[in-house]
Amino acid sequence: MPTKIEKDAITGRMTTGHEWDGIKELNTPLPKWWVYVYAATVVWAIGMFILYPALPLGTHASKGLLGYSSRADAMAGVAEMQALHAEQMKKIGALSFAEIERDPALREVALTAGRVIFANNCQPCHGPNGQGGPGFPALDTDVWRWGGSLEAIERTITHGIRSGDPEAHDSQMPNFGTDKLLKPEEIAAVADYVMTLYGKAQPSPATEAGAKIFADNCAPCHGANGEGNRDIGAPPLRSHVHLYGDTREAVIAQVTHPRMGVMPAWNKRLSPAEIKAVTLYVHSLGGGE
Ligand code: HEC
Ligand code: HEC
Repeated sequence: MPTKIEKDAITGRMTTGHEWDGIKELNTPLPKWWVYVYAATVVWAIGMFILYPALPLGTHASKGLLGYSSRADAMAGVAEMQALHAEQMKKIGALSFAEIERDPALREVALTAGRVIFANNCQPCHGPNGQGGPGFPALDTDVWRWGGSLEAIERTITHGIRSGDPEAHDSQMPNFGTDKLLKPEEIAAVADYVMTLYGKAQPSPATEAGAKIFADNCAPCHGANGEGNRDIGAPPLRSHVHLYGDTREAVIAQVTHPRMGVMPAWNKRLSPAEIKAVTLYVHSLGGGE
C-alpha cells in the first residue's frame, strides 16, 4: 500500500513509499560508478553490434560495418605463413649446403620441411624414421651404397637408382645362378664364405673354395675384403647391415638372381629446394658423412 516518501529515522535514508504490514522499503540506489560502467558497456555492445558480424540470419550473420570475418582473418594468417615458408624455401634452394649449415635457424626450417617431405614421399619404402626394411635400405646407418655425404645423397634422391633417369645411378650384379655363371654348389660355397665376412660363420678350410670363387667373381665389384664400391653401388658385404638379409638362403638367393633395387628419381616430383631439405633431413638421421 503506497504511503508517503519520508526519511527513515534509523538509517537516515529516504523510503520508496512502499509499505507492507508496517515494513517500509528503503530507497537504496545503485552506486553512481556502477551505473556509468553499466551504461558504457551497453553503448559499447551496440557499437560492436554495428561494427562486427552479430545478427544471425540463418545461413550467415549481418556483416558489420568493418566487414570483419574471422575466416578471412585466419586465411590471411595462413597466407602469411605460406609466403614466409615459400620465401625460406627459395632461400634454401639458392644457398649451398655449407651456407645453410652456417645458418642454424634456416637449417632448422630445412630439417622440418625435410621431415614432412620424407613422411609424404619416402616413408612408404624407407620406413617412418628411415630405418629401412627388407629390400629398402636403412638411411640412419653409416653404411651407404652410393655415398652418405650431402652431395651424394642429393644426387641419389635427384636422379634415383636404376630409375630410368639419364643421370641415375646404375649398375648390375650378374645373375650368377639364372645365367649359369656359377653352379649351385659354387653359389652355396661362396655364400658360406660371404657369411665369414660379417662374422656369421667362421673361416675354415671348408670356406676356402668359396673364398677363391669370391676373389674371381665378386671381388671386382665388392672389393677383395668385401669393403664395397660406391662408384657402382656395390654394398659392403662385410658390414652388419644387409638389405636382403644375412642368412645363407638370403645370400644364395641374391647371388642366384640379384634383386637390383629401384629407387625413383625425384627431380620431376620435388623442387630442388625440397630435395635439398629432404637431403639435409636424411643426412641428419645418424649416418651422414
Ligand atoms: C618405391 C620405393 C622407394 C621410395 C618411395 C624411395 N626410395 Fe630411396 N631407395 C629405394 C631403394 C630400393 C633403394 C636401394 C637401391 C639399391 O639397391 O641401391 C633406395 C636408396 C636410397 C638412397 C641411397 C642409400 C645408399 O645406401 O646409398 C637414398 C639416400 C634414398 N633412397 C633416399 C630416399 C628419399 C629421400 C626418398 C624420398 C624422397 C626415397 N628414397 C624414396 C626405394 C625407394
Ligand atoms: C658387377 C658388379 C657385381 C658383381 C660382380 C657382384 N656383385 Fe653383388 N652386388 C652388386 C650390386 C650393384 C649390388 C646391389 C644390388 C641390389 O640392390 O640388388 C650387389 C648386392 C649383393 C648382395 C646383397 C647385399 C645386401 O645388402 O643384402 C650380396 C650378398 C652380393 N651382392 C654378393 C655377391 C657375390 C657373392 C658375388 C660373386 C659371386 C657378387 N655379389 C658379385 C654388384 C656386384
